[in-house]
Amino acid sequence: MNIAICPGSFDPVTMGHIDIITRAANMFDKLIVVVMNNAAKKCSFTPYERVEMIKKCVGDHKNIVVDCYDGLLAEYAAEKGANAIIKGLRAMSDFEYEFQMALANKKLNPKVETLFLTTAEQNMYLSSSMVKQIASMGGDISGFVPAVILDDIIDRIGK
Ligand code: PNS
Repeated sequence: MNIAICPGSFDPVTMGHIDIITRAANMFDKLIVVVMNNAAKKCSFTPYERVEMIKKCVGDHKNIVVDCYDGLLAEYAAEKGANAIIKGLRAMSDFEYEFQMALANKKLNPKVETLFLTTAEQNMYLSSSMVKQIASMGGDISGFVPAVILDDIIDRIGK
């Protein structure tokens, strides 16, 4: 079975993430979306809350599993027997950081390949931090996140 992992902090998950997740799910037998800790980010939602929000968005997809893990991605991939790590690439500005992580993960777990999917054009500018900033100022985020999690985000972050 071809298993891929789609890792991220997903704080919160956006339309851009969902696009990458659903496209990746069409390419593999099983896709594990895993909520992880990014040491450089301070999160607004707990890992459990982030998992629940993603589940609400991808519940219809039978080959998508949502999980969280507090450790190294390379170790998690080995534990799950994954062949691939899927990441979305927006602009060139993502590239250096993603390239560095892909090389580090390859060193730690040579059995897993990192594959990059280019973001859909309409999501080029979209990020979780942008969504949070707009929500915190009372702006309309309905075009940026799935409708099923809109209230979760506004209740936590909105004005
Ligand atoms: O959505 P993000 O914040 O860009 O995702 C980054 C994430 C969480 C995938 C990355 O920080 C990560 O892999 N964290 C787990 C710890 C780890 O394995 N660190 C080494 C990566 S080289």
